[in-house]
Amino acid sequence: MKPLIVGNWKCNPSSLKEAVKIFNRIKKETNLLKKAEVIICVPFIYLWPLKNISKNKINLGVQDIFFEEKGPFTGQISPLMVKDSGCKYAIIGHSEKRKLGDDDDTINKKIKKSISCGLRVILCVGEDQDARKTKNMFEVIFDQLKNGLAGVSKKHVKNITIAYEPVWSIGTGKFCPVDDVMVMNIFIKKTIIKLFGKNSAQKIRIIYGGSVNSENGSDYIKKALMQGLLIGAESLTGGFSQIIKKI
Ligand code: PGA
Repeated sequence: MKPLIVGNWKCNPSSLKEAVKIFNRIKKETNLLKKAEVIICVPFIYLWPLKNISKNKINLGVQDIFFEEKGPFTGQISPLMVKDSGCKYAIIGHSEKRKLGDDDDTINKKIKKSISCGLRVILCVGEDQDARKTKNMFEVIFDQLKNGLAGVSKKHVKNITIAYEPVWSIGTGKFCPVDDVMVMNIFIKKTIIKLFGKNSAQKIRIIYGGSVNSENGSDYIKKALMQGLLIGAESLTGGFSQIIKKI
């Protein structure tokens, strides 16, 4: 299976014109590389226009989603709307959303509704600086997985990707040592087996995110044996295809 490379544009860029320019560059370069399965998670407002120019060459995703299908929920975007745009993936539980108030219960509702509407979920988990200092990171990751995935049935495990993203590494330029990522990779696999049974770990992909660039990206795949990467800042630059080139 090719590595899964997910770009997370966050709240960028600030115009559709720029979004089209970045997207077209990614489309052209990654098409040449053919080394990875690429998903670009864009702000909702760019979904339809980018879908029209992607010609199904690049998968699109969103960075969050609401947990109801429709109704009186001002300002929300539902999984059905996202699915209708042709988009197949939703990042859920990103630490920047957790900081704004998404707790495990909300994340769990978002995951279950997305799956029932036919989307694939990229669930982000990660410890903050304090949890790392006090060596509590395994408890933190275990709870985020257990609570976030509560009530998800075994048959839907294949629709989930776990992104391990240490919070202290996101957007900071602080790299998580490859050995630590490998240990967490194994821990997440074991947890998935505990939650969903023996064969479940083979069905879920585990990827890494946090200050990934063209210098460290390939190590997380080749040495820490991650099955892909979640890339923030570099997904808006030419660095994105450089990362793919080296994996
Ligand atoms: P970063 O972001 O690559 O800019 O650290 C990763 C993420 O937020 O998913």
